[in-house]
Amino acid sequence: MKNVIVTGGTGFIGGRLTQALRTRLGAGARVIAAGSNDVDLTDRTATFSWFARAAAGMDCDHLFHMAAVYKAGGWPVEHPATQFFSNMSINVNLLWAWMLFFPKAKLTSALSYCMYPPHDSPHPESELWGTEPEPYLYSYAMTKKALLIGHKACAQERSARCTSVVLPTVYGPGGGFEEDSHVMGALIGKFVRARRRKASVVEVWGDGTQEREFIFIDDAVEGIITAAERSDALVQNLGTGARTRSGRSRTR
Ligand SMILES: NC(=O)c1ccc[n+]([C@@H]2O[C@H](COP(=O)([O-])OP(=O)(O)OC[C@H]3O[C@@H](n4cnc5c(N)ncnc54)[C@H](OP(=O)(O)O)[C@@H]3O)[C@@H](O)[C@H]2O)c1
Repeated sequence: MKNVIVTGGTGFIGGRLTQALRTRLGAGARVIAAGSNDVDLTDRTATFSWFARAAAGMDCDHLFHMAAVYKAGGWPVEHPATQFFSNMSINVNLLWAWMLFFPKAKLTSALSYCMYPPHDSPHPESELWGTEPEPYLYSYAMTKKALLIGHKACAQERSARCTSVVLPTVYGPGGGFEEDSHVMGALIGKFVRARRRKASVVEVWGDGTQEREFIFIDDAVEGIITAAERSDALVQNLGTGARTRSGRSRTR
């Protein structure tokens, strides 16, 4: 791995991944991190012209695809169409640009655990197909499944090299604390804001039975890089398999 592009390189995971790749690959390597201000991946013309410029300046041997539109909390329930249009466009444009401009590069994409059906036990990768995702994240989850089908199709028709990792909820430095952040940061933010307002009650969503699997950001990044370097699996889960219960619904 020497010349690398990271989509979503300004985001929580993509930003940390970019730092780790720059440290690991050293001065001789080139790591380009792109956020939505660099290229709007929902726009095919903009995507192709950004990739054409990148291809003129570097021979990319690895693409990390971290870009997606996702917010936690109630946002996905209110915006399933926004998520569908944005993420389908981002994924299709990225796959197409990969095949047009860097067909020899390996692609590593981030997928999400919500692609699996809501069950108590950890899911093997074989449960991805023939099952339905969590209803409240249905649209987002299906765009991730579609991305995986895109991987498979490019591998089959063009002998393209790719892999992907299914991530549970990631936490750690760089994560957000807003209401629509992932649960750990959102909870910390809720309690800090309540303390500042001297509120006597903090409202926590859910009925206390919800369980999540967490992975620390640096472990997620290490797993993504290891998969990119060593794996030819179409998809693999990345996580501890340990579940954490969220707690009670209202805390004083
Ligand atoms: N965080 C988790 O717990 C978790 C769990 C499972 C899977 N994942 C997956 O991991 C990946 C990274 O997640 P994250 O938490 O790092 O997300 P994030 O912090 O929200 O970052 C999303 C990234 O996507 C970019 N992006 C959004 N819309 C774009 C567009 N139209 N064109 C180009 N870039 C666009 C953003 O760019 P700007 O910021 O510059 O707008 C940002 O760099 C995503 O694919 C997500 O589905 C995350």
